Amino acid sequence: MERNENCVTDGIVILWVLFLIQLLVMQLASASAPSNALPGCQQRCGDVEVPYPFGIGPNCSMKAGFTLNCTSSNGTHKPFLNDVEFKSISLSSGQARIFNRVSAQCHDAASGTVTYNKSWPINLTASPFRFSSTLNKFTTVGCHTAAFVTLSHKTHKYWSGCVTLCEDVGSLTNGSCSGTGCCESAIPKGINSYYVWFLDNFNSSDTYWFSPCSYAMLVEEGAFEFSTSYVTTGALRDRKLPLVLDWAVRNKTCRQARRNRTSYACVSDNSECVDSGNGPGYLCNCSKGYQGNPYLPHGCRDIDECANKDTNPCPGHCKNTQGGFTCHCPKGRNGYPYINGTCNPILTLRVKVAIGISASSVTLMIITLCIYIIRGRKRLMDVKEKYFQQYGGRLLLAEIGKKQGLAFMIFTKEELEESTNNFDRSNVIGHGGNGTVYKGVLKDDHVVAIKRAKIIDEKQKEEFGKEMIILAQINHKNVVKLLGCCLEVEVPMLVYEFVPKGNLFQLLHGKSPRVGVTFETRLRIAVESAEALAYLHSSASPPIIHGDVKSSNILLDDRHMAKVADFGASRPAPMNEVQYVTLVQGTLGYLDPEYMQTYELTHKSDVYSFGVVLLELLTGKNAVSLEGPEEARSLSSKFLVAMQENGLYELLDDQIKDDEEIELIKAVAALARTCLSIKREGRPSMKDVAEELGRLRNLAEAKLFGTP
Ligand SMILES: *[C@@H]1O[C@H](CO)[C@@H](O)[C@H](O)[C@H]1NC(C)=O
Ligand SMILES: *[C@@H]1O[C@H](CO)[C@@H](O)[C@H](O)[C@H]1NC(C)=O
Ligand SMILES: *[C@@H]1O[C@H](CO)[C@@H](O)[C@H](O)[C@H]1NC(C)=O
Ligand SMILES: *[C@@H]1O[C@H](CO)[C@@H](O)[C@H](O)[C@H]1NC(C)=O
Ligand SMILES: *[C@@H]1O[C@H](CO)[C@@H](O)[C@H](O)[C@H]1NC(C)=O
Ligand SMILES: *[C@@H]1O[C@H](CO)[C@@H](O)[C@H](O)[C@H]1NC(C)=O
Ligand SMILES: *[C@@H]1O[C@H](CO)[C@@H](O)[C@H](O)[C@H]1NC(C)=O
Ligand SMILES: *[C@@H]1O[C@H](CO)[C@@H](O)[C@H](O)[C@H]1NC(C)=O
Ligand SMILES: *[C@@H]1O[C@H](CO)[C@@H](O)[C@H](O)[C@H]1NC(C)=O
Ligand SMILES: *[C@@H]1O[C@H](CO)[C@@H](O)[C@H](O)[C@H]1NC(C)=O
Ligand SMILES: *[C@@H]1O[C@H](CO)[C@@H](O)[C@H](O)[C@H]1NC(C)=O
Repeated sequence: MERNENCVTDGIVILWVLFLIQLLVMQLASASAPSNALPGCQQRCGDVEVPYPFGIGPNCSMKAGFTLNCTSSNGTHKPFLNDVEFKSISLSSGQARIFNRVSAQCHDAASGTVTYNKSWPINLTASPFRFSSTLNKFTTVGCHTAAFVTLSHKTHKYWSGCVTLCEDVGSLTNGSCSGTGCCESAIPKGINSYYVWFLDNFNSSDTYWFSPCSYAMLVEEGAFEFSTSYVTTGALRDRKLPLVLDWAVRNKTCRQARRNRTSYACVSDNSECVDSGNGPGYLCNCSKGYQGNPYLPHGCRDIDECANKDTNPCPGHCKNTQGGFTCHCPKGRNGYPYINGTCNPILTLRVKVAIGISASSVTLMIITLCIYIIRGRKRLMDVKEKYFQQYGGRLLLAEIGKKQGLAFMIFTKEELEESTNNFDRSNVIGHGGNGTVYKGVLKDDHVVAIKRAKIIDEKQKEEFGKEMIILAQINHKNVVKLLGCCLEVEVPMLVYEFVPKGNLFQLLHGKSPRVGVTFETRLRIAVESAEALAYLHSSASPPIIHGDVKSSNILLDDRHMAKVADFGASRPAPMNEVQYVTLVQGTLGYLDPEYMQTYELTHKSDVYSFGVVLLELLTGKNAVSLEGPEEARSLSSKFLVAMQENGLYELLDDQIKDDEEIELIKAVAALARTCLSIKREGRPSMKDVAEELGRLRNLAEAKLFGTP
């Protein structure tokens, strides 16, 4: 048991150690620079990097043609393939540079004989190399030279040549290789061996005194610049010049090569195959965004585009990805990170949310407010419309339309509110038992009196419009004219002509020191009031009972002309106890005693009330007095008692007591007495009253002006 446990512990420790070693190895591997050669193989030879598939030694290269020698000569190492020295090898371009010696044939200046004759051939047959046909030129240099080249293809040979001539050194130009002293010609593709030979009879024996040598070589065009000194000296002799070779994994195209996975050279992931442009074969290349050696397993590594400061596509906000990169604007900024420096500060989410919320709530509030206002208006309109309908507004409008010349207006609530300064207290000109009267100034400066009733009887509502029509048609100089009404309110408002000098009650019982009111004036007021009531009773159609005749309802204009007011629709009909009480309160002292029993208002009720008004005119006393014994509180009963006891004189107003028209006063008193008959049958009609008063006034006038 104990042994087993030890075993397990040991195992764990060993696993841990192995794991740590593995970690260390991985660390080392990732830390060291990536190798382009096979593991354990020399990466470089001298200054030249030798990447796989090339290799130093047979076990380090892909196959025979790629095996180089790293030869030490004079202390420096140089890579060789056969006798060809390599200058550089590139994987991505599929090219290599070698050193190529210049072939030359020189004449001795003194003897005129050939003293130097050397051709340096290159034979790369059965190697993966071809001379680059685009970068190399066969070049000859000399003043009397004809050099030829034999180029060997896999199956063919090509011959090419170049002839150079020149008269003297002066005709040569540095850098120009165009036939004078220097000539170059292109070579075909697929060549991998060549050698140079000079045409013997075309030698520099004629020109040796200034141009001793003829040169010829295959050379990288861009690496050779013609100089006149090459012609005049032997400087080019045996010079090593670069020659470009195209290499490839030979003899199969990519398509063919991919078929055999074991021999396919592009072993790295993220690599791709490219067919060779010079001879049969293919090259491997790392895919876009990767770099390294596609011929080695995992040789293609991701390029960290963001790491290099110079090539960083989006400095500051670059993020490397496998095979590419992404540019992200830093937090709190946005814009176009792939374009230089176009990451701009952006509104943070919180600010956005805050703005969004406040904007939407403001919008919501406005919308709500609008809806509220519209609804409110609509409701107001509806209410107005409701009242208007209720009070027979439609009928009224129709009637007004029918009756041409009827000066009756239907006012809006706003109009009346404006005219009375919103029913300001200062505009109140009277309080009645059933409403308040305001003075109002209309837009056309017309002064009117606006009566605002307190309540209106439910049953009267429907009749209201009709009654308005009737009242509107009343046209009598002693009746206050109804100008219009306003129906779109809970209780309709009536608009009357404005009568400026108050009422009869104020004239007789006013608190201000009383101005003398003559009997003539009193009689005239009585006549005018009586005529007005008579007109209402008989001439108006249908006849109208005033129902509340009293001195305060007889208004006086500038010339003390009487105008009867406050009748008709504005007063509630006494239908039940409550309203009865209201009515009694308002008209105490004027009330028809028979009405108390029957609750029925008739023309004669007005006559009785008018009788009390006559008493007020005669006595200057209030219809009801709160002083004295109970039976003497009512003016009418006081009067009737006085008449029985022949005590009229005492009761008369001091202002008219001593009037010489005492007979007329007595006649008026007698008339008043009949009006105040307890029984209705005993009272005269209003017409009779008006006629009698008119007769008495005529008498008074006749006496005044001395005419019979
Ligand atoms: C190459 O490898 C083979 C076996 O794989 C071996 O026999 C030979 O010695 C090696 N050659 C060199 C130069 O390392
Ligand atoms: C070795 O180097 C010396 C001087 O550096 C030079 O003279 C000699 O020719 C060189 N030998 C070879 C074989 O390159
Ligand atoms: C390598 O060098 C040796 C001696 O310098 C030579 O014999 C051999 O042919 C060379 N091999 C190649 C592949 O160049
Ligand atoms: C390999 O890829 C690089 C970059 O994509 C390109 O420059 C190069 O020409 C390619 N090589 C070949 C042989 O297609
Ligand atoms: C130069 O050498 C070649 C062989 O290398 C020979 O064929 C030719 O005749 C020689 N020319 C002279 C002028 O010596
Ligand atoms: C090049 O070398 C091969 C052997 O490697 C030989 O067969 C061929 O003839 C040579 N070509 C020339 C032009 O010398
Ligand atoms: C060409 O350049 C060389 C030096 O590079 C110089 O000696 C020679 O005089 C130049 N020739 C002309 C014609 O300028
Ligand atoms: C050089 O050319 C001349 C003819 O131009 C000829 O006579 C002479 O033999 C040639 N020299 C050699 C070494 O071939
Ligand atoms: C290419 O194939 C030819 C025959 O088709 C063969 O002679 C040659 O050696 C091959 N070259 C390489 C590098 O495999
Ligand atoms: C694939 O390549 C290997 C190695 O070059 C070779 O041994 C094998 O025969 C090839 N297979 C085919 C089907 O060509
Ligand atoms: C990016 O900015 C740098 C320096 O600010 C400038 O040199 C470079 O040209 C710009 N590149 C582009 C694509 O605008």
